[in-house]
Amino acid sequence: KDKTIEMVDLKTKKLFLKRCEYPSIQLNDLYIGAIATVHSRQLKIVDYADLFTRKHFESSKEKTFAMIKPDCYQHIGKIIDIIEHSGFVIGNIRMAKMSLANAEEFYAEHKGKPFFTNLTNFICSDFVVGMELVGEEAIARWRKLIGPTNCEVARKEAPNSIRAIFGTEGVKNACHGSDSPGSASREIEFFFGEKTKLKPTAFLTNCTSCVIKPHIVMEANVGKIVDKILSEGFEISALQMFFLDKATSEEFLEVYKNVLPEYSAMASHLTSGPCVALEVRQENAVNSFREVCGPHDPEIARTLRPDTIRAKFGFDRVKNAVHCTDLEEDGPLEVEYFFTVLQQK
Ligand code: RTP
Ligand code: MG
Repeated sequence: KDKTIEMVDLKTKKLFLKRCEYPSIQLNDLYIGAIATVHSRQLKIVDYADLFTRKHFESSKEKTFAMIKPDCYQHIGKIIDIIEHSGFVIGNIRMAKMSLANAEEFYAEHKGKPFFTNLTNFICSDFVVGMELVGEEAIARWRKLIGPTNCEVARKEAPNSIRAIFGTEGVKNACHGSDSPGSASREIEFFFGEKTKLKPTAFLTNCTSCVIKPHIVMEANVGKIVDKILSEGFEISALQMFFLDKATSEEFLEVYKNVLPEYSAMASHLTSGPCVALEVRQENAVNSFREVCGPHDPEIARTLRPDTIRAKFGFDRVKNAVHCTDLEEDGPLEVEYFFTVLQQK
């Protein structure tokens, strides 16, 4: 509550880190499976330290699986924005393009029902975005937020729900939400588990990379930036959350070493929390996307190009909202780094 942390070695009961101010870690960020970065060390949270803590926090750290369905591709940013401002932490997120076999496995419980073929064909017709959401009563709250299964019913009975606002008709109802803790863990495993059958979606052609920086994830502005990119007419064809360690971050930003004075600070910021990497596509993607991101320094951007991403969401030269590819020939290479090289690590 007071933005401080203390660490104790559980076995020896010895103090590991003296209580100190650490505002970049918030209570919301601490749940089982989360990665917290403290003084450049990435710490994976594996369990509650004692029974008291478990009892106190278990219910407030419930996990659910949310999915944006293909009919809402253009609204992905708006839906992420709603999620970010409804008391959920996005523990994980990735875009996927399901095969028919993937969709049939994901919706196996509905096999044999009259809408099954229609539903599975629809789900694999285009990109979907899967998310692990963490928060107090996440399962019930997310289902309430999306509203009744049928969009027409939703528009009458829950006009502010996501399905009422963004749903189309029939099976095209904008979003999915797990219906029980069992489905939630099965679906999270299906999307994010080590044995997931889903493949990265990046094309690696006509593309540029965009890395939404950790401060934006912390400030709950991922949705607004995704929405800006889509509404500027770009295609987002891959999207995934990453926790970069120091070596990976330094390797990715290596070209800026000895070029930008803030290289070290940039590399360190990129490890301070989760970031979200995207493949962004359009003709002449690298240069046209650089225009939308704006000047590297948000102060300069606010003066010269006030409508750009960095002008709107950047803080300083390190926390400047997004990384984007600088050189035309590096577009596919940077996308490949996230969506091919890091997938194999
Ligand atoms: P979901 O699983 O997608 O979160 O939706 P739900 O629990 O509200 O609804 P469920 O009964 O699990 O159905 C799964 C999806 O199948 C499509 N559906 N169409 N009569 C119909 O046309 C019909 N019934 C179900 C919807 O896409 C629904 O979300
Ligand atoms: Mg269901």
